[in-house]
Amino acid sequence: MTNVYDEQDYPYAVRHWTHPTQLGALSRLMGRAAAPFEDCRVLEIGAGDGVNLASMAIGAPRAQFVGVDLSERAVAAGRELIAAAGVANVRLECVDLRNFEAEPQSFDYIVAHGVYAWAPKDVQEALMALCGRLLSPRGVAMISYNALPGCRLRQGVRDMLLSAVAGIEEPERKIAAARAAAAFHAEQWSASDNAFRKALELEARDFLGRPDGLIFHDELGEIYDPQLFSDVVAKARAQGLDYLCDNDPSLVEHALFESELWSKALPLTGGDQIAYEQTLDFVETRFFRRSLFCRAGAPLERRFSPERLAGLYLEAPLEPFIDASVAEGEFAFKTARQGEVSTRDPAFGAAMRRLGEAYPRALAIDEIAAEAPARAALLRLYVGNMARLATEPFPVGRDCGDKPFANPLARAQARLGLGSVTSYRHSQVQLEGDDTRRFLDLLDGTRSVDELVRAMSESASARDDTGKLVDAALRTFALWGLTRAPG
Ligand SMILES: C[S@@+](CC[C@H](N)C(=O)[O-])C[C@H]1O[C@@H](n2cnc3c(N)ncnc32)[C@H](O)[C@@H]1O
Repeated sequence: MTNVYDEQDYPYAVRHWTHPTQLGALSRLMGRAAAPFEDCRVLEIGAGDGVNLASMAIGAPRAQFVGVDLSERAVAAGRELIAAAGVANVRLECVDLRNFEAEPQSFDYIVAHGVYAWAPKDVQEALMALCGRLLSPRGVAMISYNALPGCRLRQGVRDMLLSAVAGIEEPERKIAAARAAAAFHAEQWSASDNAFRKALELEARDFLGRPDGLIFHDELGEIYDPQLFSDVVAKARAQGLDYLCDNDPSLVEHALFESELWSKALPLTGGDQIAYEQTLDFVETRFFRRSLFCRAGAPLERRFSPERLAGLYLEAPLEPFIDASVAEGEFAFKTARQGEVSTRDPAFGAAMRRLGEAYPRALAIDEIAAEAPARAALLRLYVGNMARLATEPFPVGRDCGDKPFANPLARAQARLGLGSVTSYRHSQVQLEGDDTRRFLDLLDGTRSVDELVRAMSESASARDDTGKLVDAALRTFALWGLTRAPG
């Protein structure tokens, strides 16, 4: 069986928010147990080439990973990559999700990213039914989808694009025509002060920044069916599932803490979490959701308590700084996105300093913050999108040891000449140049740093300062999580 994903490649990639250590952390935050990553069972629906699963599988050799996808081309490419990387615990099945069978309640984590709102109604229903049938009692299912009302605006751009590509079949020509039309209209809309046109212009410019595969499948695909959050929750309930929370830090904040808006919206929502989040989607004109579901049954108590952070880990790229804006007694840090965070609480300040020093390694919250106020403040880093939360740390650190060992999946990707490779942090890293890829592939744990310098010195493009370059590359690779921390 084939589909349009056989006609035009899709930029499959690892998605950090699908990782079981993150889904498990959210489950625990919401007061529920979660299956330990090391021996969990994961199903990805619409797994494409399985790179997302393969990256997870490398971190948990005893766990089992199953990917389902309709595209023969993606599955064949994925099997090749998985074999080249020597990953033994991933199985990719080329099958329509409507025909996929497995033992009831046999998966602890189910991930369906980018499938639901781009599939016909019967496939949507089958996907939800699969989650209802296959999710284990302590399981978490994550379904992402284009959301309303934000996507109504995007529909305006889509209408224009579909009109521009009408009658064009060949993917490359279709993408080129869509890009030309988006560029033309963005310019026209930009000349106006009209708010609707301005909003369309922003959407069109955003569209132009996307890769070809996303444009072809996600924006020009035959089916584009953005969802009301409350409808998705109703469909999940019909399959015996409860909404847990969304995998978006700001929505997690709304689930855990009563905000001013919660109180103001009470006449509309009656204090119901689903009604509140639906209201929030209208208020914030939401475009996208990554909703988490669990088996229905036990009542959910979402409100935050610091004990729920027990056993969880936090990773945050924080850099301390002092300048004229920092008052005496204040601890100030720069965050990854050029933001700043500061505190006068010494316990929170010390915890942030340790997080920054350890980055890219995550630290146990139990180790860096004993008291409730500092723990709650650390959670604020997560809901403020300044830190990642997980049930366990990835095996990374600033040092890569005497005989550096790089992620086997990344090395296989480098050998295949791919520009984007996968890190131990479950993220994509762009690698420029054949020499960089060759260097990465040399990091198989058998060579000392001196041997690496010698090997690179033999290359045609070797320079006098190859030793320095190797040192710098190893430091950068460690920071990106491409190499495994010793020990
Ligand atoms: C937009 S892509 C998302 C892929 C991947 N989850 C990711 O995050 O990159 C959607 C994938 O779902 C697959 N798909 C669509 N309909 C399907 C069906 N009925 N059964 C199985 N896979 C399907 C497509 O082949 C494609 O690989």
